[in-house]
Amino acid sequence: MTFKRSNNPGEDIKRGLEMPQKRRQLIAESPADIPVAVYGVNRLAASLHPGTLKAKITDKQPVGVDCWKITLKSLREDGSFPFFRAGQFVTLSSEVHDSFISRPYSIASSPKQARDGRLEIIVQKKGVFSSWLIDEARSGSIITVSEPSGDFCHDDIRDRGHVLAVAGGSGVTPFISMMKAIREGSEDFRLTLVYGVRTREHLLIDPADYQDERISIVPVLSDQQAEGYYNGFINADILSQFIEQDSSVFMCGPDAMYDFVTHELNKLGVTRIRRERNCVTDRRVDREEIYRLTVHIRDEVYALTARNDETVITALERAGIPAVVRCRSGVCGFCHSRLISGEYYLKPEDDFRRQADRKFGYIHPCCCYPLSDMEIEIPIFDL
Ligand code: FES
Repeated sequence: MTFKRSNNPGEDIKRGLEMPQKRRQLIAESPADIPVAVYGVNRLAASLHPGTLKAKITDKQPVGVDCWKITLKSLREDGSFPFFRAGQFVTLSSEVHDSFISRPYSIASSPKQARDGRLEIIVQKKGVFSSWLIDEARSGSIITVSEPSGDFCHDDIRDRGHVLAVAGGSGVTPFISMMKAIREGSEDFRLTLVYGVRTREHLLIDPADYQDERISIVPVLSDQQAEGYYNGFINADILSQFIEQDSSVFMCGPDAMYDFVTHELNKLGVTRIRRERNCVTDRRVDREEIYRLTVHIRDEVYALTARNDETVITALERAGIPAVVRCRSGVCGFCHSRLISGEYYLKPEDDFRRQADRKFGYIHPCCCYPLSDMEIEIPIFDL
């Protein structure tokens, strides 16, 4: 209710004196419910960080050897996927037989394709979830996709104008997204991709598809001699030809490649290497033990079993409990849970907990293996 002054002071005083009465009348006539205001900034935040969303598989194409490119279509109202930085990953999850399983995959499409509601990932036939995606999920199957996460991206403040990217096998995926983003203009840096695979048939990309003056691709074949390709492992000799005085080094591939290439880069004096973390997998044990796992989620208590060679998250998923999980490598902290009792094994290199979490007994169940009966309290589902 607003008051506008007129040219008649007497009239203004009269209207002013009537205002309290009018205001009381308007209040009496208004609905009892408090109106809910939706601010633009909240709408934007919900669109960028939806937690999870549903998506439909629209296409599956074999690429290279034992790998498939899977295309997903967003089922959000506006048909888009949330914005992401080239190099980030999403975690896919679904009910698989009697379990509820998830796995992170680097995004192979560009941020622009995501805006158009299309997301591509490359899946290697390895592990239960990936094999299910390849063999059993069909075009039209609906799965849950997390919002994008991860910091394996180029950052203008932190990184240099030239990136030496070292990839092995399907580890090329985040660099595919980066190359598309460079060509589309949403990223602005030069990228030299040294890409190691066994034979030409294992290549997941055709270098001709990424022609750009800011992009160079150097394929290295470990098990085949071919004209125009380097042969052997990615070693200091090869890397020294492409690293610049002022390059940022990014690496994504199998653990064995990390060990070897890190050693080779160290020979060149390079110690700062940005690595994409791989999922923590099952652990080799001399004797399989089975323990009781008691899980509290809000007011519910679940009693299940967990093996000493599987992570606590895997035990939860095997029992059909959809735990909150993203990176499965101990880094993101999404699965952060309170340990009430019990012993567990955690590789020191997978321990990315904050000091306060260590002190107050929090664990990341995605990388902890039970060593006794355990009782934990986990965050609520985000589905
Ligand atoms: S899922 Fe990222 S730390 Fe466990």
